[in-house]
Amino acid sequence: MGTANDPAASFDRSAAAYEQLVALNRAGSRRLVAALPDETFARVVDIGCGTGFATMEVIARGGVREVIGVDPSRPMLDVFAGHLAAHPDVNADLRAVDAVSTGVPGGSADLAICTMALHWMPDRAAAIREMARVVRPGGVVAILAPGEGHDRPTVDLMHAAGPPLSRLGDSIVSNEITLSWLSATLESVGLDAVDTWAEVRERAVPPDSIADRMDAVATHLWDDLPAPQRADAPARMRTAFRSAADPDDLYRYRFVKTFAIARRRA
Ligand SMILES: C[S@@+](CC[C@H](N)C(=O)[O-])C[C@H]1O[C@@H](n2cnc3c(N)ncnc32)[C@H](O)[C@@H]1O
Repeated sequence: MGTANDPAASFDRSAAAYEQLVALNRAGSRRLVAALPDETFARVVDIGCGTGFATMEVIARGGVREVIGVDPSRPMLDVFAGHLAAHPDVNADLRAVDAVSTGVPGGSADLAICTMALHWMPDRAAAIREMARVVRPGGVVAILAPGEGHDRPTVDLMHAAGPPLSRLGDSIVSNEITLSWLSATLESVGLDAVDTWAEVRERAVPPDSIADRMDAVATHLWDDLPAPQRADAPARMRTAFRSAADPDDLYRYRFVKTFAIARRRA
């Protein structure tokens, strides 16, 4: 289980509802996997795998024989294990460990994939170095993360609300993975970019649905608050989203994602 203010603690708490509350992450994984080179990935390592959105998309392409899923949140891995049960032909090994200590032998995978998780890792460059290490020469690393300028309306809303909600604004900003940083980091660990791109999507959602999503991914931000504030923060956040909704009772925001596909130098 995660510890206080550890992002994995949020996912320990939300694992059972995660897939419903964060359904849009599945669509992002689908777009990343659809852009992979047209080849078979028999051995897949999914870093920060959660409930396995990315791996399940790769399995749907066909040809997967082995999966290693890495995530410190055991409850998320338990949901993933349930999905993998439908694929007894795939040899699965789910490890409740950190992205930088996977224990996967170097050069043993065809694909290392990491979707919507890199931003929660304390040493992102080390995590990418680990992805580069586990793939064979010629193997592929694929990453999906929040991008530059992600969800500015929510950043502004939470900063305007003041502490402790401003922590959520700070967290969204610090979670940004820019294309320039990602490209430079891939290069520095021996990966050649195949395709890197950013995607901007305008969304209008019921305010409670974005509050639910934030509750699913970010309750760790409140962990160290005194008990009354800790209990109060999610309700205050929900009220802020409701108050920012338009006359149609929709909350409008801008979702930015960074995608990268790279190949390990031979
Ligand atoms: C938003 S979820 C994404 C899960 C999945 N990849 C997806 O696309 O839905 C983020 C995941 O990152 C995991 N995580 C947080 N810190 C991590 C770390 N240091 N190493 C590996 N995974 C981590 C969390 O436990 C959580 O399951």
